[in-house]
Amino acid sequence: MTRNRIAAVAGILSLALAACGAPREPAEPADIPAPEVEAQFADVDTARILAAADTPQEWLTYGGNYDETRHSPLQKVNVETVERLGVAWTYDLRTARGVESTPIVVEGVMYVTSAWSVVYALEAATGEELWVHEPDVDKSVGVNACCDVVNRGVAVYDGKVYVGVIDGRLQALDAETGELIWSTVTVDQSKPYTITGAPRVVDGKVLIGNGGAELGVRGYLSAYDAATGKLVWRFYTVPNPEKQPDNAASDAVFAELANDTWGDEGAWVEDGGGGTVWDSIVYDHVGDQIIFGVGNGSPWNRTFRDPAGGDNLFLSSIVAVDAETGEYKWHFQTTPGDNWDYTATQTIILADLPLGENGETRRVAMQAPKNGFFYVIDAATGEFISGEPFVPITWATGLDENGRPVEVPTARYGTTPILQLPGALGAHNWHPMAFNPELNLAYIPAQEIPQAYAEDSRFFDDPANWNTGSDFAAGAAPDLPPGTFEAIRASLKGRLIAWDPIAQEPRWTVEHENAWNGGVLSTAGGLVFQGKLGGEFVAYDAATGEKLWAHDVKSGAASGPATFEVDGEQYVTITTGWGSAYALVAGMAYPDGVPPSVGKVVTFKLGGNEIIADAGLPMIERTPKGEDFGTTEMVAAGTVHFARHCAVCHGQLAVSSGVLPDLRWSPIAADAASWDQVVRGGALASNGMVSFAEELSEEESEAIRAYVLRQAHNATASQEAPTSDQP
Ligand code: HEC
Repeated sequence: MTRNRIAAVAGILSLALAACGAPREPAEPADIPAPEVEAQFADVDTARILAAADTPQEWLTYGGNYDETRHSPLQKVNVETVERLGVAWTYDLRTARGVESTPIVVEGVMYVTSAWSVVYALEAATGEELWVHEPDVDKSVGVNACCDVVNRGVAVYDGKVYVGVIDGRLQALDAETGELIWSTVTVDQSKPYTITGAPRVVDGKVLIGNGGAELGVRGYLSAYDAATGKLVWRFYTVPNPEKQPDNAASDAVFAELANDTWGDEGAWVEDGGGGTVWDSIVYDHVGDQIIFGVGNGSPWNRTFRDPAGGDNLFLSSIVAVDAETGEYKWHFQTTPGDNWDYTATQTIILADLPLGENGETRRVAMQAPKNGFFYVIDAATGEFISGEPFVPITWATGLDENGRPVEVPTARYGTTPILQLPGALGAHNWHPMAFNPELNLAYIPAQEIPQAYAEDSRFFDDPANWNTGSDFAAGAAPDLPPGTFEAIRASLKGRLIAWDPIAQEPRWTVEHENAWNGGVLSTAGGLVFQGKLGGEFVAYDAATGEKLWAHDVKSGAASGPATFEVDGEQYVTITTGWGSAYALVAGMAYPDGVPPSVGKVVTFKLGGNEIIADAGLPMIERTPKGEDFGTTEMVAAGTVHFARHCAVCHGQLAVSSGVLPDLRWSPIAADAASWDQVVRGGALASNGMVSFAEELSEEESEAIRAYVLRQAHNATASQEAPTSDQP
């Protein structure tokens, strides 16, 4: 490998002089070995990422290339050989929280992240640790993370590794040593902003967005100077409450277009309106523009957010801006006046599709956002080309000729709950989609997770961290009718869909056992790789969906896999540890206990025969530790408070997936004083369980305890939970 040092070109000038017969300087020998100069480590630049297809042995940027197709030209691992794929090495990320990282591989070094924004540099062929960077996060910020304290990966450029830290910092590390070069705070840290997405780097600018729209922030995308960490431009996605210029790249388009789509009052004025850019950011080199996906409204419910009822630009939109200046070029809004947390932050893939009559290609952007429609839009103008639902949806009947959804009348819910598809977890979430340009197929990690939406009548009286205006207690009750959990489980579906974006229809579909599976990798070996929640890592035939190979990775695996080559050997990597929003809220989806979440990097090669060590997770005795207590009114009040304040982390209906403690089995729930110390006293704040003293009175907190214990006793009585020891 040449990545450590290279010799500089030596002595050419003196040799040339000698050949011309110039007088020799006897004191100096002709060949002076030039001093060894330090080759720039990880010398990645825009040209190199643009030419990623020519260096398929590397995985240079989050989506594999600037078009973010996640399609690798490598083909040593292919439909014939894949049966010999086995584990080459594993690396323990030492976390049980969610892992969503796609590794970057440059010159034989892998850069990967895990929960709490920790960065690891590993020898890509062996998994040997080179360095680890802990960003030193105050873990109480975990309360701001809507969907676990995850991180989706780094960017590597000009000898540096860039990571967005969960508390809103953007950091540049020395790629060789992991030492911190610069660190910039990109958000107002007094607000509940987080960063979970991977930065991208284009022409010396690091692009980074943020999250927090569940809790109330104003979204934007920023470009920082890659060398210095200084802000170059910022594009806000929502106007400021005064609708005045921010002295930002977005000023002109707000004045022209976006300000008028917002009313002058409503909760957005306080809450920032949302529209966070928390995942997809794509560089379109043809238009020299950045195309990015914008998130949901804050609060979700437009009736509260903006009673004027406008489209609320640029919520739930795909937006294109000039790469150099950040100035607006075009937008396409997938969900006007978002009301349901239908983000348009999902994977954006650029491709040249043969859409013309004579097979002429058109450069398009494709997205399968949460709202359930697969969109093909013109990459140069944002013009809508086509869109069809890729899963069953109930909120709209279709799209009009401009791509605007035709909503069903009940979709904008009132106080009576409506069960709707998709729910807030979306028909597709952050799990990366891939695109095979030879087959012209997009591979969508799709899901059906319905949600009961209802207007939250307590919106103004009972501020919660998650004050979305949509009632999280809808459908919850202290004593649920028998069969409720079975019915919920039956409604949850996950699948891998090979979608033909030209015909706008599925070519093939694989049904999974669970909703919420992993991201996808496509390869020229004719394969599609996907991790599954139950712990299987699978290779399918890209053309037919036939399952060709699978390996038990002993943990839920949700991230996007990557492939690379070192010394002629092709490797395939997936990071495991499922975490994230679904892991936290959807424990009730798993009757037999949940798949373990074990943070690991697992790398495969042909003929690999390493064993993945068992997780050795602690056993939790699934029995109530305290008495069932409390009046009917008290438990009913506890139901509502739990749904509003606790369910997003400890699981809906008080059933946790195990990533965070299942409060039903907690010994702390047995004792009022210990409970109060944790819930209102903040005794575990340094581990991410902050005090709820501002939101909850002692009486309300005690009502939650009564509700939790009621659920514990109900579960054992109905044998919903096994009473034996289970991991
Ligand atoms: C943002 C996520 C989050 C929210 C919201 C949250 N918790 Fe927690 N909670 C945690 C984490 C993380 C831990 C584990 C802390 C640790 O490992 O010490 C925890 C632990 C606990 C524990 C200790 C359990 C045990 O057996 O160790 C109790 C009790 C608890 N939470 C109660 C609540 C209640 C009640 C609510 C709602 C009012 C709530 N939590 C809301 C994140 C959250």
